[in-house]
Amino acid sequence: MKPVYVKRHVRHVRGETVPTISRYLRRDPLEVTPRSMTYTEAARRTGGGTRNLWIKRENGENSNRVLLVQFSSKLLSSAAFESPEAKRYYDSVYENVPGYERAEDFWEVPTWMAHMAGAFRNSDVYVVRNVDEARHFLNEAGYGGVFFSALDANKDLIKGLAQNYGGRVFVGGYVRRQEFDDQPNVTWFDTIGEAAGAFGVEPGEGPDYRHFEGTAVIPRLCMSTGCAYDCAFCTVEKQVKTMPKDEIDRNVKAILANLEGDLVYLNDKTFGQAPNYTYLRELNQRIKAARPSFKGFIVQTTATQFLKMPDDFLRDSGIRIVEIGVESYNDDILKSIRKPHRVTHIDQAVARLRTLGIKFVPNIIIGLPGETKESYERTLKFLRNNEDIISHVNVYALALYDQARLKDEMGLENLNAADVNENVIRKSFQKDPELHEWFANEVYQFGTQQAERWS
Ligand SMILES: C[S@@+](CC[C@H](N)C(=O)[O-])C[C@H]1O[C@@H](n2cnc3c(N)ncnc32)[C@H](O)[C@@H]1O
Ligand code: SF4
Repeated sequence: MKPVYVKRHVRHVRGETVPTISRYLRRDPLEVTPRSMTYTEAARRTGGGTRNLWIKRENGENSNRVLLVQFSSKLLSSAAFESPEAKRYYDSVYENVPGYERAEDFWEVPTWMAHMAGAFRNSDVYVVRNVDEARHFLNEAGYGGVFFSALDANKDLIKGLAQNYGGRVFVGGYVRRQEFDDQPNVTWFDTIGEAAGAFGVEPGEGPDYRHFEGTAVIPRLCMSTGCAYDCAFCTVEKQVKTMPKDEIDRNVKAILANLEGDLVYLNDKTFGQAPNYTYLRELNQRIKAARPSFKGFIVQTTATQFLKMPDDFLRDSGIRIVEIGVESYNDDILKSIRKPHRVTHIDQAVARLRTLGIKFVPNIIIGLPGETKESYERTLKFLRNNEDIISHVNVYALALYDQARLKDEMGLENLNAADVNENVIRKSFQKDPELHEWFANEVYQFGTQQAERWS
């Protein structure tokens, strides 16, 4: 193994400081995590440290293995959560709301890694907290294939690592595949099956969370994909696809086998649209039997869709929290963004949640077109009027993705990275950024107060 030299500053006799390379500060990039540790053990051992984590629990030549690489959310979100109000808010949710758990490096276990691990028995995991160290590591480790899942937020980091890497890189995910066209060592894959095919392995029977054994998070389960509604800002696939029961069952089994956590989040974009939603009752019984501490499900849906679900289903479905995309408590704004519900539906849904004893999490979007001090005040009043059943709030900054119709409707071009980031409040297209910042901070403060009510 080649030594890695680390830059060090030495003080010269004349008091001048010059950079030099020291042979004595050798950091072995392959000694990242002691062998056979799970992600959680490694993360606990290093805490919030800056060394990367290498989760390799099986022996075997790296050249015959593949590496699944994920950037720590701390690396990606330092700019996103720079507001102290936002940080305080998220910390208070995860400290106080029962069942809310997050891992050291992730808000949730990356599902793409679980699906890849299901197909690739010979896979290891690498968590990047430090990009320089990752660059050395990849070249030293000599894996047969290195995999990434690309998002707008990490695509440049992936490009940088691939550029400096002498091996083969495989990328799938949520950016245009053309992003990596000019990188000869990068191969794009659309599906896990395609990636498996390139390596001559079977696609696998579903997710496998073995690399994350014992990790306490809110596991994600999916019973359907897509949403039939047409909100102007949203890029969710319009076609609703129902997952077959056996696939859902395999997912439940995989979660129970390795992940900790007493809540399960339903990833269905508008829960209740797919006809299989009533299957949740059965899943509730099964999960409760396997894990007596199970507290229930979190589902996300619109007020209109929620109102269609019968009371008897809601009573024994195990649904504990309903997230509703309120966005703004103003009919003119809801109409202009083609939200299917209006404030009257929201009020009816909230009244029903109250009767059923289910907690409510409103999703609020900061910076929708047409918002004013008065419209924001109405949304704040709505939140305060319902503080008895609001667990906390999901706060999103309006992100104008390329594929979203709202971007064209607002006549915008040349947007920057912050404009497509749901965590950054200030946008290039805002006329009155202070107004939106004020509202965001009011919502964070309200959310913190609500989360603290749990303690
Ligand atoms: C799946 S929806 C929530 C449930 C349900 N489908 C609804 O819309 O009421 C996810 C939430 O993410 C937020 N969201 C989606 N796209 C967004 C965007 N482009 N910018 C900001 N927030 C967005 C919205 O608050 C939305 O309610
Ligand atoms: S209802 Fe929710 S998921 Fe469906 S289009 Fe609107 S924001 Fe997207």
